[in-house]
Amino acid sequence: MSQFLSNCSADVLATAAQALQDGRLVAFPTETVYGLGADATNASAVARIYEVKGRPSDHPLIVHIAELKHLELWISDIPEYAIALARNFWPGPMTLILKRSDLANDFITGGQDSVGVRVPDNSLALGLLGAFHKLGGAGIAAPSANRFGQVSPTTAEAVQEELGNYLTDTDLVLDGGQSAVGVESTIIDCTRALPRILRPGAITIEMIEEVSGLKVSDSTGQKSEDFKEEDIRVSGSLENHYAPKAKVLLDQQPVISSGFIALDNIETPDGVIRLAAPKSVEEFARVLYSALREGDHQSLDSIYIAQPTGDGLAIAIRDRLSRSAKGR
Ligand code: TXA
Ligand code: MG
Repeated sequence: MSQFLSNCSADVLATAAQALQDGRLVAFPTETVYGLGADATNASAVARIYEVKGRPSDHPLIVHIAELKHLELWISDIPEYAIALARNFWPGPMTLILKRSDLANDFITGGQDSVGVRVPDNSLALGLLGAFHKLGGAGIAAPSANRFGQVSPTTAEAVQEELGNYLTDTDLVLDGGQSAVGVESTIIDCTRALPRILRPGAITIEMIEEVSGLKVSDSTGQKSEDFKEEDIRVSGSLENHYAPKAKVLLDQQPVISSGFIALDNIETPDGVIRLAAPKSVEEFARVLYSALREGDHQSLDSIYIAQPTGDGLAIAIRDRLSRSAKGR
Protein backbone atom coordinates (compact mmCIF):
# COMPACT_ATOMS: atom_id res chain seq x y z
CA MET A 1 0.00 0.00 0.00
CA SER A 2 1.30 3.46 -0.90
CA GLN A 3 1.43 6.60 1.24
CA PHE A 4 -1.56 8.85 0.62
CA LEU A 5 -0.78 12.60 0.88
CA SER A 6 -3.49 15.28 1.09
CA ASN A 7 -3.00 19.06 1.54
CA CYS A 8 0.13 18.99 -0.58
CA SER A 9 2.35 21.89 0.53
CA ALA A 10 5.62 22.90 -1.15
CA ASP A 11 7.38 20.60 1.37
CA VAL A 12 5.25 17.63 0.38
CA LEU A 13 5.93 18.35 -3.31
CA ALA A 14 9.68 18.54 -2.63
CA THR A 15 9.47 15.16 -0.84
CA ALA A 16 7.52 13.71 -3.76
CA ALA A 17 10.08 15.08 -6.24
CA GLN A 18 12.85 13.45 -4.20
CA ALA A 19 10.91 10.17 -4.25
CA LEU A 20 10.85 10.33 -8.06
CA GLN A 21 14.57 11.08 -8.07
CA ASP A 22 15.09 7.98 -5.89
CA GLY A 23 13.28 5.84 -8.47
CA ARG A 24 9.96 5.55 -6.68
CA LEU A 25 6.49 6.02 -8.17
CA VAL A 26 4.32 9.06 -7.46
CA ALA A 27 0.68 9.16 -8.56
CA PHE A 28 -0.47 12.76 -9.05
CA PRO A 29 -3.49 14.73 -10.25
CA THR A 30 -3.66 16.40 -13.63
CA GLU A 31 -6.54 18.36 -15.13
CA THR A 32 -7.48 15.36 -17.30
CA VAL A 33 -7.06 12.25 -15.10
CA TYR A 34 -4.57 11.11 -12.44
CA GLY A 35 -1.19 9.90 -13.70
CA LEU A 36 1.19 7.28 -12.32
CA GLY A 37 4.54 9.05 -12.46
CA ALA A 38 8.19 7.97 -12.62
CA ASP A 39 11.46 9.67 -13.57
CA ALA A 40 11.28 9.43 -17.37
CA THR A 41 15.05 8.80 -17.60
CA ASN A 42 15.10 5.93 -15.08
CA ALA A 43 14.63 2.56 -16.82
CA SER A 44 13.87 0.54 -13.70
CA ALA A 45 11.41 3.11 -12.31
CA VAL A 46 9.61 3.17 -15.68
CA ALA A 47 9.59 -0.66 -15.72
CA ARG A 48 7.68 -0.54 -12.44
CA ILE A 49 4.96 1.62 -14.05
CA TYR A 50 4.32 -1.20 -16.52
CA GLU A 51 4.32 -3.77 -13.73
CA VAL A 52 1.93 -1.82 -11.51
CA LYS A 53 -0.44 -1.08 -14.39
CA GLY A 54 -0.19 -4.57 -15.88
CA ARG A 55 0.43 -2.85 -19.23
CA PRO A 56 2.27 -4.42 -22.19
CA SER A 57 5.78 -2.95 -22.27
CA ASP A 58 5.72 -1.87 -25.91
CA HIS A 59 3.05 0.78 -25.27
CA PRO A 60 4.65 4.24 -25.18
CA LEU A 61 4.29 6.67 -22.25
CA ILE A 62 3.65 10.41 -22.21
CA VAL A 63 6.46 12.55 -20.75
CA HIS A 64 5.15 15.42 -18.59
CA ILE A 65 7.26 18.59 -18.39
CA ALA A 66 6.97 21.77 -16.29
CA GLU A 67 7.12 24.24 -19.18
CA LEU A 68 7.48 24.56 -22.93
CA LYS A 69 11.21 25.40 -22.54
CA HIS A 70 11.92 21.84 -21.38
CA LEU A 71 10.49 20.37 -24.58
CA GLU A 72 13.87 20.64 -26.31
CA LEU A 73 15.30 18.02 -23.95
CA TRP A 74 12.92 15.38 -25.34
CA ILE A 75 12.57 16.12 -29.03
CA SER A 76 14.86 16.49 -32.03
CA ASP A 77 12.56 18.33 -34.42
CA ILE A 78 9.34 20.33 -34.29
CA PRO A 79 7.17 21.75 -37.08
CA GLU A 80 5.99 25.37 -36.87
CA TYR A 81 2.38 24.36 -36.34
CA ALA A 82 3.31 22.29 -33.26
CA ILE A 83 5.12 25.28 -31.73
CA ALA A 84 1.93 27.30 -32.23
CA LEU A 85 -0.17 24.56 -30.60
CA ALA A 86 2.21 24.29 -27.62
CA ARG A 87 2.27 28.08 -27.12
CA ASN A 88 -1.52 28.30 -27.22
CA PHE A 89 -2.64 25.21 -25.34
CA TRP A 90 0.07 24.47 -22.75
CA PRO A 91 -0.36 24.10 -19.86
CA GLY A 92 -3.41 22.14 -20.99
CA PRO A 93 -5.05 18.85 -21.96
CA MET A 94 -2.98 18.25 -25.11
CA THR A 95 -0.19 15.76 -25.86
CA LEU A 96 2.09 16.36 -28.86
CA ILE A 97 3.80 13.44 -30.58
CA LEU A 98 7.15 14.65 -31.96
CA LYS A 99 10.43 13.23 -33.27
CA ARG A 100 12.35 12.08 -30.21
CA SER A 101 15.76 13.11 -28.88
CA ASP A 102 18.31 10.62 -27.51
CA LEU A 103 17.00 11.26 -23.98
CA ALA A 104 13.66 9.68 -25.00
CA ASN A 105 14.68 6.06 -24.64
CA ASP A 106 12.97 3.00 -26.10
CA PHE A 107 11.54 2.29 -22.63
CA ILE A 108 9.50 5.51 -22.97
CA THR A 109 8.65 5.41 -26.67
CA GLY A 110 8.02 1.68 -27.02
CA GLY A 111 10.82 1.65 -29.59
CA GLN A 112 9.19 4.24 -31.87
CA ASP A 113 11.17 7.23 -33.15
CA SER A 114 8.61 9.63 -31.68
CA VAL A 115 7.80 10.73 -28.14
CA GLY A 116 4.59 12.07 -26.56
CA VAL A 117 5.01 15.20 -24.37
CA ARG A 118 2.66 17.48 -22.46
CA VAL A 119 2.53 20.29 -19.87
CA PRO A 120 -0.47 19.57 -17.61
CA ASP A 121 -2.70 22.36 -16.32
CA ASN A 122 -2.96 21.48 -12.64
CA SER A 123 -1.25 23.33 -9.81
CA LEU A 124 -0.10 20.19 -7.96
CA ALA A 125 1.20 18.59 -11.16
CA LEU A 126 3.07 21.78 -12.08
CA GLY A 127 4.39 22.12 -8.52
CA LEU A 128 5.68 18.55 -8.62
CA LEU A 129 7.21 19.01 -12.08
CA GLY A 130 8.86 22.27 -10.97
CA ALA A 131 10.29 20.67 -7.81
CA PHE A 132 11.52 17.68 -9.83
CA HIS A 133 13.18 19.99 -12.35
CA LYS A 134 15.00 21.78 -9.51
CA LEU A 135 16.50 18.42 -8.52
CA GLY A 136 17.76 18.01 -12.08
CA GLY A 137 14.81 15.91 -13.30
CA ALA A 138 14.08 16.17 -17.04
CA GLY A 139 10.47 14.98 -17.06
CA ILE A 140 7.93 12.64 -15.49
CA ALA A 141 6.61 9.68 -17.48
CA ALA A 142 2.99 9.09 -16.52
CA PRO A 143 0.22 6.98 -17.97
CA SER A 144 -3.27 7.17 -16.48
CA ALA A 145 -3.10 5.63 -12.98
CA ASN A 146 -5.40 2.67 -13.64
CA ARG A 147 -4.84 -1.01 -14.31
CA PHE A 148 -4.50 -1.67 -18.05
CA GLY A 149 -7.83 -1.47 -19.91
CA GLN A 150 -9.82 -0.11 -16.98
CA VAL A 151 -11.42 3.25 -16.28
CA SER A 152 -8.99 6.14 -15.68
CA PRO A 153 -9.06 7.62 -12.15
CA THR A 154 -10.23 11.19 -11.67
CA THR A 155 -9.72 11.24 -7.87
CA ALA A 156 -6.94 10.09 -5.55
CA GLU A 157 -9.36 7.58 -3.96
CA ALA A 158 -9.92 6.03 -7.38
CA VAL A 159 -6.13 5.70 -7.82
CA GLN A 160 -5.95 3.92 -4.48
CA GLU A 161 -8.81 1.64 -5.50
CA GLU A 162 -7.09 0.79 -8.84
CA LEU A 163 -3.47 0.47 -7.78
CA GLY A 164 -3.40 0.28 -3.96
CA ASN A 165 -2.62 -3.45 -4.03
CA TYR A 166 0.22 -3.00 -6.50
CA LEU A 167 2.04 0.03 -5.06
CA THR A 168 4.52 -0.31 -2.19
CA ASP A 169 4.77 1.80 0.97
CA THR A 170 7.59 3.88 -0.55
CA ASP A 171 5.35 4.95 -3.45
CA LEU A 172 3.20 8.07 -3.05
CA VAL A 173 -0.31 9.12 -4.08
CA LEU A 174 -0.88 12.90 -4.09
CA ASP A 175 -4.47 13.95 -3.48
CA GLY A 176 -5.50 17.01 -5.48
CA GLY A 177 -9.26 16.49 -5.50
CA GLN A 178 -11.28 15.84 -8.64
CA SER A 179 -9.70 16.30 -12.08
CA ALA A 180 -11.24 19.32 -13.79
CA VAL A 181 -11.59 17.94 -17.34
CA GLY A 182 -12.21 14.26 -16.60
CA VAL A 183 -11.16 12.66 -19.91
CA GLU A 184 -7.60 12.09 -21.14
CA SER A 185 -5.66 14.65 -23.19
CA THR A 186 -6.07 15.14 -26.92
CA ILE A 187 -3.15 13.35 -28.60
CA ILE A 188 -1.87 15.03 -31.78
CA ASP A 189 0.65 13.39 -34.08
CA CYS A 190 2.96 16.23 -35.19
CA THR A 191 5.52 14.11 -37.04
CA ARG A 192 4.05 14.87 -40.48
CA ALA A 193 3.24 17.90 -42.62
CA LEU A 194 -0.28 18.07 -41.15
CA PRO A 195 -1.44 17.53 -37.56
CA ARG A 196 -3.43 14.35 -36.98
CA ILE A 197 -5.59 13.59 -33.94
CA LEU A 198 -4.86 10.15 -32.47
CA ARG A 199 -7.11 10.53 -29.44
CA PRO A 200 -9.82 13.21 -29.11
CA GLY A 201 -10.00 15.30 -25.94
CA ALA A 202 -10.79 18.75 -24.62
CA ILE A 203 -8.56 20.44 -27.22
CA THR A 204 -10.85 20.00 -30.20
CA ILE A 205 -10.35 19.78 -33.97
CA GLU A 206 -11.77 23.31 -34.33
CA MET A 207 -9.30 24.70 -31.79
CA ILE A 208 -6.35 22.96 -33.49
CA GLU A 209 -7.40 24.15 -36.95
CA GLU A 210 -7.85 27.71 -35.75
CA VAL A 211 -4.42 27.92 -34.12
CA SER A 212 -2.48 25.98 -36.77
CA GLY A 213 -4.33 27.32 -39.79
CA LEU A 214 -4.15 23.77 -41.15
CA LYS A 215 -6.62 21.03 -41.95
CA VAL A 216 -6.56 18.37 -39.26
CA SER A 217 -7.09 14.71 -39.99
CA ASP A 218 -8.80 12.56 -37.42
CA SER A 219 -7.77 8.95 -37.06
CA THR A 220 -10.22 8.27 -34.29
CA GLY A 221 -13.75 8.27 -35.68
CA GLN A 222 -14.03 7.35 -39.32
CA LYS A 223 -10.45 6.53 -40.15
CA SER A 224 -8.88 8.80 -42.71
CA GLU A 225 -7.22 6.96 -45.58
CA ASP A 226 -3.70 7.73 -44.44
CA PHE A 227 -4.13 6.22 -40.97
CA LYS A 228 -2.45 2.88 -40.53
CA GLU A 229 -2.75 1.06 -37.22
CA GLU A 230 0.80 -0.22 -37.54
CA ASP A 231 2.18 3.31 -37.88
CA ILE A 232 1.69 4.25 -34.32
CA ARG A 233 0.64 2.55 -31.15
CA VAL A 234 -1.91 4.29 -29.00
CA SER A 235 -3.07 1.91 -26.30
CA GLY A 236 -6.04 4.16 -25.61
CA SER A 237 -7.09 3.38 -29.15
CA LEU A 238 -7.45 -0.33 -28.44
CA GLU A 239 -11.07 -1.25 -28.88
CA ASN A 240 -11.75 -2.61 -25.40
CA HIS A 241 -10.62 0.08 -23.02
CA TYR A 242 -12.02 2.44 -20.40
CA ALA A 243 -14.27 -0.44 -19.31
CA PRO A 244 -15.96 -0.83 -15.91
CA LYS A 245 -17.04 -4.26 -14.67
CA ALA A 246 -20.67 -3.51 -15.52
CA LYS A 247 -21.74 -3.91 -19.14
CA VAL A 248 -21.99 -0.50 -20.84
CA LEU A 249 -24.92 -0.02 -23.26
CA LEU A 250 -25.26 3.12 -25.36
CA ASP A 251 -28.41 4.97 -26.42
CA GLN A 252 -30.83 2.18 -25.54
CA GLN A 253 -33.86 2.08 -23.22
CA PRO A 254 -32.53 1.13 -19.74
CA VAL A 255 -33.94 -1.98 -18.05
CA ILE A 256 -35.08 -2.06 -14.41
CA SER A 257 -32.29 -1.98 -11.75
CA SER A 258 -29.64 -0.92 -14.25
CA GLY A 259 -27.53 2.22 -13.94
CA PHE A 260 -28.23 5.31 -16.06
CA ILE A 261 -26.04 8.26 -17.09
CA ALA A 262 -27.49 11.07 -19.19
CA LEU A 263 -27.65 14.84 -19.40
CA ASP A 264 -29.82 16.49 -16.76
CA ASN A 265 -32.69 17.24 -19.17
CA ILE A 266 -33.29 13.51 -19.78
CA GLU A 267 -35.58 11.95 -17.16
CA THR A 268 -34.72 8.81 -15.22
CA PRO A 269 -36.98 5.91 -16.30
CA ASP A 270 -38.85 4.13 -13.46
CA GLY A 271 -36.84 1.60 -11.50
CA VAL A 272 -33.51 2.72 -12.93
CA ILE A 273 -30.57 3.96 -10.82
CA ARG A 274 -29.39 7.40 -11.89
CA LEU A 275 -25.58 7.55 -11.60
CA ALA A 276 -25.11 11.07 -12.98
CA ALA A 277 -27.17 13.92 -14.40
CA PRO A 278 -24.61 16.43 -15.71
CA LYS A 279 -25.90 19.82 -16.84
CA SER A 280 -23.42 20.33 -19.69
CA VAL A 281 -21.08 18.36 -21.93
CA GLU A 282 -18.14 19.65 -19.84
CA GLU A 283 -19.73 18.31 -16.67
CA PHE A 284 -20.53 15.04 -18.48
CA ALA A 285 -16.79 14.57 -19.17
CA ARG A 286 -15.87 15.54 -15.60
CA VAL A 287 -18.21 13.07 -13.87
CA LEU A 288 -18.29 10.22 -16.40
CA TYR A 289 -15.51 8.02 -15.01
CA SER A 290 -16.56 8.42 -11.38
CA ALA A 291 -20.15 7.56 -12.38
CA LEU A 292 -18.93 4.36 -14.09
CA ARG A 293 -16.97 3.51 -10.91
CA GLU A 294 -20.05 4.19 -8.80
CA GLY A 295 -21.96 1.66 -10.92
CA ASP A 296 -19.32 -0.92 -10.04
CA HIS A 297 -19.44 0.02 -6.34
CA GLN A 298 -23.16 -0.70 -6.47
CA SER A 299 -22.41 -4.02 -8.25
CA LEU A 300 -24.71 -3.14 -11.15
CA ASP A 301 -24.86 -5.60 -14.05
CA SER A 302 -25.30 -2.91 -16.63
CA ILE A 303 -25.01 0.86 -17.10
CA TYR A 304 -27.05 2.57 -19.82
CA ILE A 305 -25.73 5.83 -21.19
CA ALA A 306 -27.46 8.44 -23.35
CA GLN A 307 -24.50 9.91 -25.21
CA PRO A 308 -24.14 13.66 -25.69
CA THR A 309 -24.48 14.71 -29.34
CA GLY A 310 -22.56 17.34 -31.27
CA ASP A 311 -18.91 18.32 -31.74
CA GLY A 312 -16.18 19.49 -29.39
CA LEU A 313 -15.73 17.57 -26.15
CA ALA A 314 -18.76 15.38 -27.00
CA ILE A 315 -16.56 13.67 -29.63
CA ALA A 316 -14.07 12.65 -26.91
CA ILE A 317 -16.86 11.39 -24.65
CA ARG A 318 -18.36 9.26 -27.43
CA ASP A 319 -14.89 7.95 -28.33
CA ARG A 320 -14.33 6.66 -24.77
CA LEU A 321 -17.88 5.36 -24.44
CA SER A 322 -17.76 3.38 -27.67
CA ARG A 323 -14.66 1.64 -26.31
CA SER A 324 -16.06 1.01 -22.83
CA ALA A 325 -19.16 -0.49 -24.47
CA LYS A 326 -16.91 -3.13 -26.10
CA GLY A 327 -16.31 -4.47 -22.56
CA ARG A 328 -13.17 -6.15 -21.27
O1 TXA B 1 -4.43 13.04 -20.13
C1 TXA B 1 -3.51 12.24 -20.29
O2 TXA B 1 -2.89 12.15 -21.38
C2 TXA B 1 -3.12 11.35 -19.11
C3 TXA B 1 -2.52 12.21 -18.02
C4 TXA B 1 -2.01 11.40 -16.86
O3 TXA B 1 -1.51 13.01 -18.56
N1 TXA B 1 -2.23 10.33 -19.53
C5 TXA B 1 -2.61 9.28 -20.30
O4 TXA B 1 -1.61 8.35 -20.50
O5 TXA B 1 -3.74 9.15 -20.74
P1 TXA B 1 -1.88 6.89 -21.08
O6 TXA B 1 -0.55 6.21 -21.11
O7 TXA B 1 -2.96 6.25 -20.32
O8 TXA B 1 -2.32 7.18 -22.53
C6 TXA B 1 -1.39 7.81 -23.38
C7 TXA B 1 -1.53 7.33 -24.78
C8 TXA B 1 -1.25 5.86 -24.88
O9 TXA B 1 -2.35 5.28 -25.55
C9 TXA B 1 0.02 5.79 -25.68
O10 TXA B 1 0.04 4.66 -26.52
C10 TXA B 1 -0.02 7.09 -26.46
O11 TXA B 1 -0.55 8.00 -25.55
N2 TXA B 1 1.33 7.51 -26.82
C11 TXA B 1 2.33 7.88 -26.01
N3 TXA B 1 3.45 8.13 -26.72
C12 TXA B 1 3.15 7.91 -28.00
C13 TXA B 1 3.87 7.97 -29.21
N4 TXA B 1 5.17 8.30 -29.27
N5 TXA B 1 3.23 7.67 -30.35
C14 TXA B 1 1.92 7.34 -30.33
N6 TXA B 1 1.19 7.24 -29.22
C15 TXA B 1 1.78 7.53 -28.07
MG1 MG C 1 -4.70 5.22 -20.04
